[in-house]
Amino acid sequence: MTDVRTDGQRKRVFIRTYGCQMNVYDSDRMADVLRPLGYAMADTPEQADLVVLNTCHIREHASEKVYSELGRLRDTKRERRAEGRDLTIAVAGCVAQAEGEEIVRRQPAVDIVVGPQAYHRLPELLAEAERKAAIRRAGKRLPGAGVLDTDFPAESKFDHLPAPQGVRAGSAFLSIQEGCDKFCTFCVVPYTRGAEYSRPASAVLSEARQLVAAGAIEITLLGQNVNAYHGEAPSSSTGGSTWSLARLIHALAEIDGVARIRYTTSHPRDMDDDLIAAHGAVPQLMPYLHLPVQSGSDRILEAMNRRHGRDLFLRLVDRLRHARADLALSSDFIVGFPGESDADFDDTMRLVDQVGFASAFSFKYSRRPGTPGSAMPDQVPEAVKSARLAALQALLGRQARDFNISKVGATVPVLFAETGRKPGQIIGKTPWLQSVYAEGNERLIGHIVEARLIEGHANSLAGEIVTRAYEAAA
Ligand code: 5AD
Ligand code: SF4
Repeated sequence: MTDVRTDGQRKRVFIRTYGCQMNVYDSDRMADVLRPLGYAMADTPEQADLVVLNTCHIREHASEKVYSELGRLRDTKRERRAEGRDLTIAVAGCVAQAEGEEIVRRQPAVDIVVGPQAYHRLPELLAEAERKAAIRRAGKRLPGAGVLDTDFPAESKFDHLPAPQGVRAGSAFLSIQEGCDKFCTFCVVPYTRGAEYSRPASAVLSEARQLVAAGAIEITLLGQNVNAYHGEAPSSSTGGSTWSLARLIHALAEIDGVARIRYTTSHPRDMDDDLIAAHGAVPQLMPYLHLPVQSGSDRILEAMNRRHGRDLFLRLVDRLRHARADLALSSDFIVGFPGESDADFDDTMRLVDQVGFASAFSFKYSRRPGTPGSAMPDQVPEAVKSARLAALQALLGRQARDFNISKVGATVPVLFAETGRKPGQIIGKTPWLQSVYAEGNERLIGHIVEARLIEGHANSLAGEIVTRAYEAAA
Protein backbone atom coordinates (compact mmCIF):
# COMPACT_ATOMS: atom_id res chain seq x y z
CA MET A 1 0.00 0.00 0.00
CA THR A 2 1.45 3.40 -0.93
CA ASP A 3 1.38 6.43 1.35
CA VAL A 4 0.49 8.86 -1.43
CA ARG A 5 -2.64 9.24 -3.50
CA THR A 6 -2.64 9.26 -7.29
CA ASP A 7 -2.75 13.08 -7.13
CA GLY A 8 0.51 13.12 -5.16
CA GLN A 9 -1.09 14.17 -1.84
CA ARG A 10 -0.41 12.29 1.41
CA LYS A 11 -3.24 10.04 2.53
CA ARG A 12 -5.28 11.34 5.42
CA VAL A 13 -7.40 9.68 8.07
CA PHE A 14 -10.18 11.22 10.13
CA ILE A 15 -11.12 9.36 13.32
CA ARG A 16 -14.35 10.28 15.11
CA THR A 17 -14.58 9.00 18.67
CA TYR A 18 -17.84 8.32 20.45
CA GLY A 19 -18.35 7.20 24.05
CA CYS A 20 -15.89 6.56 26.83
CA GLN A 21 -12.20 7.22 27.49
CA MET A 22 -11.34 3.67 26.44
CA ASN A 23 -12.44 4.69 22.96
CA VAL A 24 -10.30 7.85 23.11
CA TYR A 25 -7.33 5.61 23.92
CA ASP A 26 -8.23 3.14 21.16
CA SER A 27 -8.57 5.96 18.61
CA ASP A 28 -5.06 7.17 19.47
CA ARG A 29 -3.77 3.64 19.06
CA MET A 30 -5.52 3.28 15.70
CA ALA A 31 -3.75 6.47 14.60
CA ASP A 32 -0.48 4.87 15.79
CA VAL A 33 -1.22 1.78 13.66
CA LEU A 34 -2.06 3.86 10.58
CA ARG A 35 0.88 6.27 10.79
CA PRO A 36 3.45 3.78 9.40
CA LEU A 37 1.10 3.24 6.44
CA GLY A 38 1.58 6.89 5.59
CA TYR A 39 -1.67 8.27 6.96
CA ALA A 40 -1.57 11.81 8.34
CA MET A 41 -4.45 13.05 10.50
CA ALA A 42 -7.26 15.04 8.88
CA ASP A 43 -9.27 17.63 10.81
CA THR A 44 -12.56 16.90 9.01
CA PRO A 45 -14.08 13.92 7.15
CA GLU A 46 -14.10 16.07 3.99
CA GLN A 47 -10.27 16.17 3.96
CA ALA A 48 -9.90 12.45 4.56
CA ASP A 49 -9.29 9.37 2.38
CA LEU A 50 -10.18 7.11 5.28
CA VAL A 51 -12.81 7.83 7.92
CA VAL A 52 -12.95 5.68 11.05
CA LEU A 53 -15.94 5.92 13.35
CA ASN A 54 -14.91 4.55 16.74
CA THR A 55 -18.35 3.78 18.09
CA CYS A 56 -20.20 3.35 21.38
CA HIS A 57 -23.05 0.91 21.98
CA ILE A 58 -23.77 1.60 25.64
CA ARG A 59 -27.12 3.34 25.09
CA GLU A 60 -29.45 3.25 22.09
CA HIS A 61 -28.96 6.94 21.40
CA ALA A 62 -25.19 6.40 21.03
CA SER A 63 -25.48 3.71 18.33
CA GLU A 64 -28.20 5.55 16.40
CA LYS A 65 -25.88 8.55 16.06
CA VAL A 66 -23.42 6.27 14.25
CA TYR A 67 -25.95 5.30 11.61
CA SER A 68 -26.86 8.91 10.86
CA GLU A 69 -23.17 9.79 10.49
CA LEU A 70 -22.76 6.80 8.15
CA GLY A 71 -25.60 8.15 5.99
CA ARG A 72 -23.72 11.45 5.60
CA LEU A 73 -20.48 9.63 4.80
CA ARG A 74 -22.23 7.56 2.11
CA ASP A 75 -23.18 10.84 0.39
CA THR A 76 -19.58 12.10 0.58
CA LYS A 77 -18.37 8.80 -0.84
CA ARG A 78 -20.79 9.10 -3.80
CA GLU A 79 -19.62 12.64 -4.53
CA ARG A 80 -15.98 11.48 -4.40
CA ARG A 81 -16.64 8.61 -6.77
CA ALA A 82 -18.25 11.01 -9.21
CA GLU A 83 -14.91 12.87 -9.16
CA GLY A 84 -12.98 9.61 -9.70
CA ARG A 85 -11.65 9.42 -6.13
CA ASP A 86 -12.63 7.24 -3.21
CA LEU A 87 -13.40 7.38 0.48
CA THR A 88 -12.85 4.33 2.67
CA ILE A 89 -15.28 4.05 5.58
CA ALA A 90 -14.43 1.95 8.64
CA VAL A 91 -16.61 1.30 11.67
CA ALA A 92 -14.66 0.36 14.81
CA GLY A 93 -15.53 0.01 18.48
CA CYS A 94 -18.49 -1.50 20.29
CA VAL A 95 -21.18 -1.04 17.61
CA ALA A 96 -18.84 -2.89 15.23
CA GLN A 97 -18.45 -5.68 17.77
CA ALA A 98 -22.13 -5.93 18.62
CA GLU A 99 -23.68 -5.56 15.18
CA GLY A 100 -20.97 -6.89 12.85
CA GLU A 101 -22.37 -7.65 9.41
CA GLU A 102 -25.64 -5.94 10.22
CA ILE A 103 -23.78 -2.63 9.80
CA VAL A 104 -22.88 -3.39 6.18
CA ARG A 105 -26.45 -4.60 5.56
CA ARG A 106 -27.84 -1.32 6.89
CA GLN A 107 -25.18 0.82 5.24
CA PRO A 108 -23.49 -0.86 2.26
CA ALA A 109 -21.09 2.08 1.83
CA VAL A 110 -19.13 0.76 4.83
CA ASP A 111 -15.86 -0.91 3.76
CA ILE A 112 -14.46 -2.20 7.05
CA VAL A 113 -16.00 -3.34 10.34
CA VAL A 114 -13.43 -3.91 13.06
CA GLY A 115 -14.02 -4.80 16.72
CA PRO A 116 -12.13 -3.32 19.69
CA GLN A 117 -9.89 -6.39 20.03
CA ALA A 118 -8.85 -6.54 16.36
CA TYR A 119 -7.80 -3.04 15.32
CA HIS A 120 -4.09 -3.93 15.32
CA ARG A 121 -5.05 -5.77 12.12
CA LEU A 122 -6.21 -2.58 10.38
CA PRO A 123 -3.34 -2.67 7.83
CA GLU A 124 -4.47 -6.12 6.59
CA LEU A 125 -8.11 -5.06 6.60
CA LEU A 126 -7.32 -1.93 4.58
CA ALA A 127 -5.36 -3.97 2.05
CA GLU A 128 -8.29 -6.36 1.73
CA ALA A 129 -10.76 -3.48 1.34
CA GLU A 130 -8.52 -1.94 -1.32
CA ARG A 131 -8.38 -5.28 -3.18
CA LYS A 132 -12.17 -5.52 -3.13
CA ALA A 133 -12.51 -1.93 -4.31
CA ALA A 134 -10.16 -2.63 -7.26
CA ILE A 135 -12.22 -5.68 -8.27
CA ARG A 136 -15.37 -3.57 -8.10
CA ARG A 137 -13.75 -0.78 -10.12
CA ALA A 138 -12.96 -3.39 -12.78
CA GLY A 139 -16.73 -3.91 -13.05
CA LYS A 140 -16.84 -7.34 -11.39
CA ARG A 141 -19.46 -8.28 -8.80
CA LEU A 142 -18.42 -9.39 -5.34
CA PRO A 143 -20.30 -11.52 -2.85
CA GLY A 144 -20.39 -9.63 0.45
CA ALA A 145 -19.41 -6.00 0.49
CA GLY A 146 -17.36 -5.01 3.55
CA VAL A 147 -14.36 -6.56 5.24
CA LEU A 148 -15.19 -7.78 8.71
CA ASP A 149 -13.05 -8.57 11.75
CA THR A 150 -14.86 -8.84 15.05
CA ASP A 151 -12.84 -11.75 16.46
CA PHE A 152 -11.37 -11.84 19.90
CA PRO A 153 -7.97 -12.97 18.58
CA ALA A 154 -5.89 -15.27 20.77
CA GLU A 155 -2.96 -12.89 20.40
CA SER A 156 -3.32 -9.74 22.46
CA LYS A 157 -3.60 -6.60 20.35
CA PHE A 158 -1.31 -4.92 22.87
CA ASP A 159 1.57 -7.15 21.72
CA HIS A 160 1.09 -5.92 18.15
CA LEU A 161 0.69 -2.18 18.59
CA PRO A 162 3.49 0.28 17.93
CA ALA A 163 4.86 2.51 20.71
CA PRO A 164 2.18 4.97 21.86
CA GLN A 165 2.30 8.57 20.67
CA GLY A 166 -0.92 9.85 22.26
CA VAL A 167 0.32 12.42 24.77
CA ARG A 168 -1.70 15.63 24.69
CA ALA A 169 -0.60 18.54 26.82
CA GLY A 170 1.16 16.41 29.41
CA SER A 171 -1.72 14.00 29.84
CA ALA A 172 -2.05 10.43 28.57
CA PHE A 173 -4.41 7.49 28.87
CA LEU A 174 -3.00 4.04 29.47
CA SER A 175 -5.28 1.04 29.01
CA ILE A 176 -4.44 -1.66 31.56
CA GLN A 177 -7.55 -3.81 31.64
CA GLU A 178 -10.36 -4.60 29.24
CA GLY A 179 -13.63 -6.41 29.34
CA CYS A 180 -15.93 -7.20 32.20
CA ASP A 181 -17.21 -10.33 33.94
CA LYS A 182 -19.77 -8.56 36.13
CA PHE A 183 -22.80 -8.80 33.84
CA CYS A 184 -24.89 -6.00 35.26
CA THR A 185 -28.31 -6.70 33.75
CA PHE A 186 -28.54 -3.34 31.92
CA CYS A 187 -25.08 -3.38 30.33
CA VAL A 188 -23.73 -4.47 26.93
CA VAL A 189 -20.04 -4.20 27.87
CA PRO A 190 -19.51 -7.88 28.79
CA TYR A 191 -20.84 -8.75 25.32
CA THR A 192 -19.00 -6.10 23.29
CA ARG A 193 -15.68 -6.01 25.13
CA GLY A 194 -15.63 -9.64 26.20
CA ALA A 195 -14.18 -11.30 29.28
CA GLU A 196 -11.97 -9.49 31.74
CA TYR A 197 -8.32 -9.28 30.74
CA SER A 198 -5.43 -7.54 32.54
CA ARG A 199 -2.21 -6.56 30.80
CA PRO A 200 1.00 -7.78 32.44
CA ALA A 201 2.39 -5.22 34.90
CA SER A 202 5.74 -5.04 33.09
CA ALA A 203 3.98 -4.07 29.81
CA VAL A 204 2.04 -1.37 31.64
CA LEU A 205 5.17 0.02 33.32
CA SER A 206 7.10 0.07 30.08
CA GLU A 207 4.26 1.88 28.28
CA ALA A 208 4.14 4.36 31.17
CA ARG A 209 7.87 5.04 30.76
CA GLN A 210 7.38 5.59 27.03
CA LEU A 211 4.54 8.01 27.73
CA VAL A 212 6.67 9.95 30.20
CA ALA A 213 9.49 10.10 27.63
CA ALA A 214 6.92 11.47 25.16
CA GLY A 215 6.01 14.25 27.61
CA ALA A 216 3.31 12.82 29.90
CA ILE A 217 3.23 14.03 33.49
CA GLU A 218 -0.29 12.73 34.18
CA ILE A 219 -1.30 9.13 33.46
CA THR A 220 -4.89 7.94 33.63
CA LEU A 221 -5.16 4.16 33.89
CA LEU A 222 -8.13 2.84 31.96
CA GLY A 223 -10.28 -0.24 32.12
CA GLN A 224 -13.97 -1.10 31.93
CA ASN A 225 -13.47 -2.55 35.37
CA VAL A 226 -10.08 -1.08 36.15
CA ASN A 227 -9.92 -1.92 39.84
CA ALA A 228 -10.46 -5.61 39.05
CA TYR A 229 -6.93 -5.39 37.58
CA HIS A 230 -4.83 -8.46 38.33
CA GLY A 231 -1.97 -8.40 35.83
CA GLU A 232 0.89 -10.84 35.72
CA ALA A 233 3.64 -9.66 38.12
CA PRO A 234 7.01 -8.62 36.66
CA SER A 235 9.53 -11.47 36.84
CA SER A 236 11.67 -9.52 39.33
CA SER A 237 8.74 -9.04 41.71
CA THR A 238 8.40 -11.00 44.92
CA GLY A 239 5.18 -11.88 46.70
CA GLY A 240 2.58 -13.38 44.38
CA SER A 241 2.18 -14.08 40.69
CA THR A 242 -0.15 -11.14 40.01
CA TRP A 243 -0.25 -7.46 40.87
CA SER A 244 -3.34 -5.63 42.07
CA LEU A 245 -4.19 -2.11 40.95
CA ALA A 246 -2.86 -0.76 44.26
CA ARG A 247 0.50 -2.47 43.69
CA LEU A 248 0.65 -1.12 40.15
CA ILE A 249 -0.10 2.43 41.32
CA HIS A 250 2.71 2.25 43.88
CA ALA A 251 5.13 1.16 41.12
CA LEU A 252 3.94 3.87 38.71
CA ALA A 253 4.49 6.49 41.38
CA GLU A 254 8.16 5.45 41.46
CA ILE A 255 8.68 6.43 37.82
CA ASP A 256 10.48 9.77 37.62
CA GLY A 257 8.30 12.40 36.01
CA VAL A 258 4.89 10.92 36.88
CA ALA A 259 3.26 13.78 38.77
CA ARG A 260 -0.38 12.67 38.59
CA ILE A 261 -2.04 9.27 38.51
CA ARG A 262 -5.76 8.63 38.00
CA TYR A 263 -7.78 5.51 37.24
CA THR A 264 -11.22 4.85 35.83
CA THR A 265 -13.76 3.13 35.86
CA SER A 266 -14.08 1.22 39.10
CA HIS A 267 -16.62 -1.17 40.56
CA PRO A 268 -17.50 -0.88 44.27
CA ARG A 269 -17.01 -4.63 44.76
CA ASP A 270 -13.35 -4.36 43.69
CA MET A 271 -12.32 -1.48 45.97
CA ASP A 272 -9.97 -3.53 48.15
CA ASP A 273 -8.19 -2.42 51.34
CA ASP A 274 -4.87 -1.79 49.58
CA LEU A 275 -6.48 0.42 46.96
CA ILE A 276 -8.31 2.43 49.59
CA ALA A 277 -5.05 2.80 51.54
CA ALA A 278 -3.19 3.90 48.37
CA HIS A 279 -5.41 7.00 48.29
CA GLY A 280 -3.83 8.06 51.57
CA ALA A 281 -0.31 6.82 50.86
CA VAL A 282 0.53 7.82 47.28
CA PRO A 283 0.80 11.61 46.84
CA GLN A 284 0.66 11.34 43.02
CA LEU A 285 -2.69 9.53 43.17
CA MET A 286 -5.13 12.38 42.62
CA PRO A 287 -7.90 12.93 45.21
CA TYR A 288 -10.69 12.06 42.81
CA LEU A 289 -12.52 8.79 42.33
CA HIS A 290 -15.19 7.83 39.81
CA LEU A 291 -17.14 5.04 41.49
CA PRO A 292 -20.44 4.20 39.79
CA VAL A 293 -23.28 3.23 42.12
CA GLN A 294 -26.14 3.29 39.55
CA SER A 295 -28.92 3.30 42.19
CA GLY A 296 -29.47 3.88 45.90
CA SER A 297 -32.16 1.18 46.21
CA ASP A 298 -31.15 -2.30 47.37
CA ARG A 299 -34.04 -3.82 45.45
CA ILE A 300 -32.93 -2.21 42.18
CA LEU A 301 -29.24 -2.91 42.82
CA GLU A 302 -30.19 -6.57 43.21
CA ALA A 303 -32.23 -6.54 39.97
CA MET A 304 -29.27 -4.88 38.26
CA ASN A 305 -27.02 -7.71 39.50
CA ARG A 306 -24.63 -5.14 40.89
CA ARG A 307 -23.40 -7.52 43.62
CA HIS A 308 -23.36 -4.72 46.19
CA GLY A 309 -25.98 -2.96 48.26
CA ARG A 310 -26.43 0.59 49.36
CA ASP A 311 -24.62 0.01 52.66
CA LEU A 312 -21.49 -1.41 51.08
CA PHE A 313 -21.24 1.70 48.92
CA LEU A 314 -21.76 4.06 51.87
CA ARG A 315 -19.20 2.17 53.96
CA LEU A 316 -16.70 2.43 51.11
CA VAL A 317 -17.22 6.16 50.90
CA ASP A 318 -16.52 6.50 54.62
CA ARG A 319 -13.37 4.42 54.42
CA LEU A 320 -12.09 6.29 51.34
CA ARG A 321 -12.67 9.64 53.02
CA HIS A 322 -10.93 8.36 56.10
CA ALA A 323 -7.89 7.50 53.92
CA ARG A 324 -8.00 10.81 52.04
CA ALA A 325 -10.17 13.49 53.61
CA ASP A 326 -10.37 15.74 50.53
CA LEU A 327 -11.34 12.94 48.12
CA ALA A 328 -13.82 14.16 45.48
CA LEU A 329 -16.32 11.52 44.49
CA SER A 330 -18.01 11.06 41.17
CA SER A 331 -20.50 8.40 40.10
CA ASP A 332 -22.85 7.06 37.42
CA PHE A 333 -26.60 6.75 37.94
CA ILE A 334 -29.35 5.08 35.96
CA VAL A 335 -32.96 6.14 36.51
CA GLY A 336 -35.97 4.16 35.37
CA PHE A 337 -34.47 0.68 35.48
CA PRO A 338 -37.35 -1.86 35.07
CA GLY A 339 -39.43 -2.04 38.24
CA GLU A 340 -38.02 1.20 39.76
CA SER A 341 -40.76 2.67 41.96
CA ASP A 342 -41.01 6.18 43.40
CA ALA A 343 -39.70 4.77 46.69
CA ASP A 344 -36.68 3.22 44.94
CA PHE A 345 -35.94 6.51 43.25
CA ASP A 346 -36.22 8.32 46.61
CA ASP A 347 -33.57 5.93 47.93
CA THR A 348 -31.26 7.13 45.14
CA MET A 349 -31.94 10.77 45.97
CA ARG A 350 -31.25 10.09 49.66
CA LEU A 351 -27.97 8.35 48.84
CA VAL A 352 -26.88 11.34 46.75
CA ASP A 353 -27.80 13.65 49.64
CA GLN A 354 -25.88 11.54 52.08
CA VAL A 355 -22.68 11.23 50.01
CA GLY A 356 -22.38 14.62 48.30
CA PHE A 357 -20.81 14.15 44.84
CA ALA A 358 -18.33 16.50 43.22
CA SER A 359 -19.51 15.44 39.78
CA ALA A 360 -21.68 12.72 38.25
CA PHE A 361 -23.11 11.23 35.09
CA SER A 362 -26.76 10.22 35.04
CA PHE A 363 -28.79 8.47 32.40
CA LYS A 364 -32.28 7.24 31.64
CA TYR A 365 -32.31 3.47 31.43
CA SER A 366 -31.91 2.43 27.79
CA ARG A 367 -33.08 -1.04 26.72
CA ARG A 368 -30.18 -2.86 25.12
CA PRO A 369 -31.06 -5.92 23.03
CA GLY A 370 -29.59 -9.12 24.43
CA THR A 371 -29.21 -7.87 28.00
CA PRO A 372 -31.43 -9.38 30.73
CA GLY A 373 -32.84 -5.93 31.64
CA SER A 374 -34.38 -5.46 28.22
CA ALA A 375 -36.62 -8.51 28.76
CA MET A 376 -37.70 -7.59 32.29
CA PRO A 377 -41.35 -6.74 32.99
CA ASP A 378 -42.35 -3.34 34.43
CA GLN A 379 -40.39 -1.18 32.04
CA VAL A 380 -40.71 2.40 33.28
CA PRO A 381 -42.58 4.89 31.04
CA GLU A 382 -40.41 7.46 29.28
CA ALA A 383 -42.13 10.42 30.96
CA VAL A 384 -41.40 9.00 34.42
CA LYS A 385 -37.76 8.44 33.48
CA SER A 386 -37.49 12.02 32.24
CA ALA A 387 -39.00 13.49 35.41
CA ARG A 388 -36.70 11.41 37.63
CA LEU A 389 -33.64 12.30 35.59
CA ALA A 390 -34.46 16.01 35.83
CA ALA A 391 -34.86 15.82 39.62
CA LEU A 392 -31.63 13.83 40.04
CA GLN A 393 -29.64 16.09 37.74
CA ALA A 394 -30.88 19.19 39.56
CA LEU A 395 -29.60 17.76 42.84
CA LEU A 396 -26.28 16.57 41.37
CA GLY A 397 -25.84 19.92 39.62
CA ARG A 398 -26.27 21.79 42.93
CA GLN A 399 -23.74 19.50 44.58
CA ALA A 400 -21.19 20.01 41.78
CA ARG A 401 -21.58 23.77 42.04
CA ASP A 402 -21.28 23.70 45.84
CA PHE A 403 -18.14 21.60 45.53
CA ASN A 404 -16.57 24.08 43.10
CA ILE A 405 -17.49 27.02 45.33
CA SER A 406 -15.98 25.24 48.36
CA LYS A 407 -12.55 25.52 46.72
CA VAL A 408 -12.72 29.27 46.07
CA GLY A 409 -9.89 31.08 47.85
CA ALA A 410 -7.54 28.07 47.68
CA THR A 411 -4.29 28.06 45.71
CA VAL A 412 -3.99 24.72 43.93
CA PRO A 413 -1.82 23.03 41.29
CA VAL A 414 -3.49 23.12 37.88
CA LEU A 415 -2.37 21.04 34.89
CA PHE A 416 -3.05 23.32 31.93
CA ALA A 417 -4.29 21.44 28.87
CA GLU A 418 -5.65 23.79 26.20
CA THR A 419 -6.41 27.36 25.20
CA GLY A 420 -9.75 28.83 26.22
CA ARG A 421 -12.44 30.48 24.12
CA LYS A 422 -11.25 33.98 24.97
CA PRO A 423 -7.87 35.19 23.69
CA GLY A 424 -5.12 34.82 26.27
CA GLN A 425 -7.11 32.26 28.25
CA ILE A 426 -5.89 28.77 29.15
CA ILE A 427 -7.82 25.90 30.69
CA GLY A 428 -6.62 23.15 32.98
CA LYS A 429 -7.58 20.69 35.69
CA THR A 430 -7.26 20.79 39.47
CA PRO A 431 -6.35 17.62 41.40
CA TRP A 432 -10.14 17.13 41.87
CA LEU A 433 -10.63 17.18 38.08
CA GLN A 434 -12.38 20.55 38.08
CA SER A 435 -11.91 22.74 35.01
CA VAL A 436 -10.13 26.03 35.71
CA TYR A 437 -9.77 28.87 33.27
CA ALA A 438 -7.23 31.62 33.77
CA GLU A 439 -5.31 34.25 31.87
CA GLY A 440 -1.99 32.75 30.95
CA ASN A 441 0.65 32.12 28.39
CA GLU A 442 0.14 29.17 26.02
CA ARG A 443 3.60 27.99 26.99
CA LEU A 444 2.10 26.83 30.30
CA ILE A 445 0.06 24.16 28.49
CA GLY A 446 1.34 20.75 29.54
CA HIS A 447 2.67 22.12 32.85
CA ILE A 448 1.40 22.10 36.41
CA VAL A 449 1.14 25.65 37.72
CA GLU A 450 -0.20 27.03 40.99
CA ALA A 451 -3.41 29.00 40.55
CA ARG A 452 -5.62 30.79 43.05
CA LEU A 453 -9.29 29.93 42.57
CA ILE A 454 -11.37 33.07 42.56
CA GLU A 455 -14.88 32.11 41.38
CA GLY A 456 -16.84 28.86 41.38
CA HIS A 457 -19.52 27.96 38.81
CA ALA A 458 -21.61 24.92 37.88
CA ASN A 459 -18.99 23.33 35.62
CA SER A 460 -15.79 25.30 36.12
CA LEU A 461 -13.82 27.76 38.22
CA ALA A 462 -12.08 30.99 37.39
CA GLY A 463 -8.48 31.13 38.55
CA GLU A 464 -5.48 33.42 38.68
CA ILE A 465 -2.04 32.05 38.03
CA VAL A 466 0.24 32.68 40.98
CA THR A 467 3.07 34.79 39.58
CA ARG A 468 6.13 33.16 41.08
CA ALA A 469 5.22 29.66 39.89
CA TYR A 470 4.21 31.13 36.53
CA GLU A 471 7.68 32.54 36.00
CA ALA A 472 9.33 29.35 37.12
CA ALA A 473 7.39 27.20 34.66
CA ALA A 474 7.46 29.62 31.72
N1 5AD B 1 -28.96 2.40 30.02
C1 5AD B 1 -28.57 3.55 30.63
N2 5AD B 1 -27.34 3.74 31.10
C2 5AD B 1 -26.45 2.74 30.96
N3 5AD B 1 -25.17 2.64 31.34
C3 5AD B 1 -24.72 1.44 30.96
N4 5AD B 1 -25.67 0.74 30.34
C4 5AD B 1 -26.77 1.54 30.34
C5 5AD B 1 -28.10 1.37 29.87
N5 5AD B 1 -28.50 0.24 29.27
C6 5AD B 1 -24.47 3.69 32.08
C7 5AD B 1 -24.02 3.18 33.45
C8 5AD B 1 -22.55 3.02 33.28
C9 5AD B 1 -22.24 4.13 32.28
C10 5AD B 1 -20.94 4.01 31.57
O1 5AD B 1 -23.30 4.07 31.37
O2 5AD B 1 -24.32 4.18 34.40
O3 5AD B 1 -21.83 3.16 34.49
FE1 SF4 C 1 -21.17 -2.87 32.55
FE2 SF4 C 1 -21.52 -3.59 35.11
FE3 SF4 C 1 -19.31 -4.37 33.78
FE4 SF4 C 1 -19.61 -1.79 34.47
S1 SF4 C 1 -19.43 -3.52 35.89
S2 SF4 C 1 -18.94 -2.58 32.46
S3 SF4 C 1 -21.82 -1.53 34.25
S4 SF4 C 1 -21.42 -4.97 33.34
